[in-house]
Amino acid sequence: MAGSIVILTGAGVSAESGVETFRDKDGLWSKFDYREVATPEGFSANPALVHTFYNQRREGLAKVAPNAAHVALARLERERSDEVTLVTQNIDDLHERAGSRNLIHMHGELAKALCGRCGMRHDWRETLSTQVPCPACGKTGGMRPDVVWFGEMPYHMERIYEALRACDLFIAIGTSGNVYPAAQFVQEAGRAGAHTVELNLEPSETVSDFGEVIHGPASRVAPEYVDRVLRAK
Ligand code: APR
Repeated sequence: MAGSIVILTGAGVSAESGVETFRDKDGLWSKFDYREVATPEGFSANPALVHTFYNQRREGLAKVAPNAAHVALARLERERSDEVTLVTQNIDDLHERAGSRNLIHMHGELAKALCGRCGMRHDWRETLSTQVPCPACGKTGGMRPDVVWFGEMPYHMERIYEALRACDLFIAIGTSGNVYPAAQFVQEAGRAGAHTVELNLEPSETVSDFGEVIHGPASRVAPEYVDRVLRAK
């Protein structure tokens, strides 16, 4: 299977590393109201609540590690250099820690902070609050997690669509297909003639848009599929 590859990952790829998903039975959105913790309106209404939510998740990063799915995707990129674009909806840093480089965080990163006053971004591993002054403009009151909230535009969309329109193989791993525009990427790639594959624990909301579907835990089905791609070259 020659040609360029676009991979889209979601929370399911990090589930076996101990990172909670959003919409599974005991997922984050069964415990938190996304309107309160993942919208600009929620942040202006109660920034302390939002910071607590993301501070806990940021602290959690130190307690988890990449799993076999992350490792397999980094290997695919290494062995098919320049042909693999990894687009993740995840804000954790497990893809980078597994060695992925050509990586697009379309929903932002937990390990970054954004100043709402001057727009500067900062690598951030500590606790964040609106009392923290921005390292660039020095102002307080504007620091927020560099995460794309509901109602906000995802990052790097032009780069993503360019890759989708040129790819020969599109693989979606561990995503439920509930959130747009990511849920529409399979159609974009399909229109460009790509072979489209869903690797997920269970059928996603967009399963019927895929040419090939394999269900099982990412730590098993992703390495198996990567082996197949590399053998087929
Ligand atoms: N292996 C493979 N897939 C899994 C595993 C696993 N071990 N565990 C769960 N899954 C699947 C679930 O079946 C589900 O289809 O992963 C998917 C996770 O779906 P969601 O929780 O909806 O996560 P995601 O699709 O990434 O959400 C998209 O929504 O809340 C927003 O911004 C947030 O980026 C997120 C976006």
